[in-house]
Amino acid sequence: TPDLPLAGRRVVVTAGGTREALDPVRFITNRSSGKMGYAIAQVAREFGATVTLISATTHLPAPSGVKVMMVDSAQALLTAVSDVYDATDILVMAAAVSDYRPVELADQKIKKPADHADLTLRLTETPDILKTLAARKRHQYVIGFAAETQSLLANANRKLTSKKLDLIVANDVSKPGVGFNGDTNQVTLLRPQQQPVTTELATKSVIARKILTTAIADGAGKQA
Ligand code: C5P
Repeated sequence: TPDLPLAGRRVVVTAGGTREALDPVRFITNRSSGKMGYAIAQVAREFGATVTLISATTHLPAPSGVKVMMVDSAQALLTAVSDVYDATDILVMAAAVSDYRPVELADQKIKKPADHADLTLRLTETPDILKTLAARKRHQYVIGFAAETQSLLANANRKLTSKKLDLIVANDVSKPGVGFNGDTNQVTLLRPQQQPVTTELATKSVIARKILTTAIADGAGKQA
């Protein structure tokens, strides 16, 4: 039905910023609030989908009618997404995944050195979830995000191709009212071989509708 354009479709949304632990009390994270992903999960549910929200720690209430799985690190997020991927029709990777994690996880709280010397943290790359799953892609319609502070469309287009995405949502997070913490966003939707679509500055709920209606117009996640 036109009211429930995602009826029968299984949608997985990731949201929030991952946390990469240094020791039992400290971690590295980023400014993601999770609001964009939560808004997408809510709208997908309103559109009739069966929705799983795989969320890094946020302060947000669980959207009603949505299954929520909480994760912390990039590695935990990869495991959770990988487990549900084959049974997913539309994957929306709105999570801000840490690109690096500490090489070592100290089992006790790290102490200040007695001589007050500088402390050096060694970081190593985390797995790229979308790139990892690209090799397993079948009927899935995969949506990624690109939060950039410069060369927005060039960087987003590169990610669209390298991560084998069907749609990428490009966010200029250096603009006021756009991206990470607020309740509003302005985005450009990029798809392979199609003209970019730029939205107005609008609530994250309105932006979520635009993203999902664009995916639906592409026939997102229909099994052959
Ligand atoms: O970090 P980057 O700008 O490359 O992220 C773009 C997209 O890739 C986002 O959708 C993000 O969720 C996803 N990503 C990922 N695994 C990572 C880093 C980012 O799937 N390790």
